[in-house]
Amino acid sequence: MKVRFILGFSFLFLLAFALQPAFAQHTYLGAEKCAKMCHKIQFTSWSNTKHAKAWDALKPADQANAECVGCHVTGGKKELPGVQCEACHGPGSDYNKLGIMKDLAKAKAAGLNIPTEKDCVVCHNKKSPTFKGFNFAEAVKKVHDHKPKG
Ligand code: HEC
Ligand code: HEC
Ligand code: HEC
Repeated sequence: MKVRFILGFSFLFLLAFALQPAFAQHTYLGAEKCAKMCHKIQFTSWSNTKHAKAWDALKPADQANAECVGCHVTGGKKELPGVQCEACHGPGSDYNKLGIMKDLAKAKAAGLNIPTEKDCVVCHNKKSPTFKGFNFAEAVKKVHDHKPKG
């Protein structure tokens, strides 16, 4: 009886693990944390974009509508309202440490994503009721300011 329970439990655990999307093994920290740690330049300019306010764009009734929430929050979680850093850069729990962050290869292995068009079109597509097309080259200039090079 006990063995069966344990086997059954292990199976469910393994199944749940196997079904995780690639991102989900890492967890989300929230934009304030990214700002506090290092990225004030990006945070300040991002705060003034529509992404930061994407949750507020939904009316209260739509905030309760599962068909609307997904693209207006980060990682599918209402506790992370709006399109935050980690919606594009991947959940930061394992790449946020300075030693890892400074080494791009290590950071990528720990879940950091350098966003390209494919990371935008998961939301910017015809499933959005307001979609009128998406021009990546133009749109990417508006995500946030960048650290000056050099
Ligand atoms: C998790 C979903 C999601 C992802 C990923 C995403 N966006 Fe968005 N984006 C939105 C939503 C929702 C809005 C509209 C917010 C509003 O109007 O309140 C938006 C708005 C924008 C706007 C503002 C449009 C305007 O009228 O000013 C730009 C530019 C933009 N996105 C570019 C991008 C780019 C570039 C990427 C990829 C690097 C990207 N987005 C990834 C959901 C997303
Ligand atoms: C597939 C992702 C996706 C879904 C699902 C989605 N949205 Fe959006 N939403 C976006 C994106 C991306 C934008 C930016 C404009 C665009 O390209 O549609 C946006 C913009 C908006 C805006 C701002 C429009 C503006 O002119 O600034 C509102 C309001 C909105 N969505 C409401 C909703 C509602 C209500 C639902 C559910 C019925 C919904 N969205 C479902 C991705 C989505
Ligand atoms: C809508 C998607 C999107 C969001 C949201 C977003 N970024 Fe970015 N970020 C990008 C893109 C695209 C690049 C440029 C990638 C490249 O160089 O090819 C980038 C580059 C960066 C870089 C590299 C250094 C630099 O300044 O260019 C840092 C650091 C960064 N983002 C941090 C953040 C932080 C912190 C937040 C939240 C406050 C954030 N990003 C939100 C898309 C996004």
